Amino acid sequence: MKLAFWKKGEDTAGQVDFSRLPRHIAIILDGNGRWAKRRGLPRTAGHKVGAETFRTIATCCRDIGIEYLTVYAFSTENWKRPEDEVDTIMVLLKKYLLEAIDTMERDNVRLRFMGDLTPLTAELKGLVAECNAISERLTGCLCSICINYGGRPELVHAAAGFAKDCQSGSVNPEDLTEEMLSGYLYSAGIPDPDLLIRPGGELRQSNFLLWQCAYSEFYFTDVLWPDFSREELYRAIAAYQHRSRRYGGLQEGST
Ligand code: IPE
Ligand code: IPE
Ligand code: MG
Repeated sequence: MKLAFWKKGEDTAGQVDFSRLPRHIAIILDGNGRWAKRRGLPRTAGHKVGAETFRTIATCCRDIGIEYLTVYAFSTENWKRPEDEVDTIMVLLKKYLLEAIDTMERDNVRLRFMGDLTPLTAELKGLVAECNAISERLTGCLCSICINYGGRPELVHAAAGFAKDCQSGSVNPEDLTEEMLSGYLYSAGIPDPDLLIRPGGELRQSNFLLWQCAYSEFYFTDVLWPDFSREELYRAIAAYQHRSRRYGGLQEGST
């Protein structure tokens, strides 16, 4: 058993057993605005630092061998924000994609996008397509970025896809299984998250991966996303490793 200590001393909260890592970690990137406000900065400054944090955590996940990382970057509800904040987030997304196109091959990180991308500009859609094309050649950690994503719209989209296939006669309504429905989601082919992390202090799911998180372990922390670090990630993984995942059954050896 290999352990990593996030901090020297008595506190062992961040000890990670690298032989039992979660395969898939999902993160709600929350707390950027409050991080900035506490510093007397505009909310957009928090988004800028948050984008850097994402880079750090994605690299860390790749380094330790997490197979899937899924992050909630912009929800279907986030269009309610002031126009200048939404614009800044889209500019940051463009910057991130341009950098990713230059570095993902070297870093062997695959990118995938989940959500309805139709409202994005043609330029952003083009960059997403480039990232997808590069990802096809790679094998490393699959990082899914949720943009204009909502769990309910995703289920509606999946239902519509299934209905269309029923209409065309390629499937029958009575044949629908959970596995089949999963195949109509944006996350098709990706295992469900083992661990869902929400920084920022809110204790809710905010329409994120409603279907996929049916049996995920939830980890909440007050740390704001821009302050989230490798140590915080280890702390979350260590907490996950202390959970007993019973899936409705009984813990081994408890009978
Ligand atoms: C998360 O941070 C980023 C997005 C939702 C785009 P917030 O902007 O929600 O930050 P808080 O929750 O207001 O601090
Ligand atoms: C969730 O954060 C969405 C993302 C992080 C992209 P929000 O800040 O939008 O969630 P609420 O409004 O607190 O539920
Ligand atoms: Mg928020």
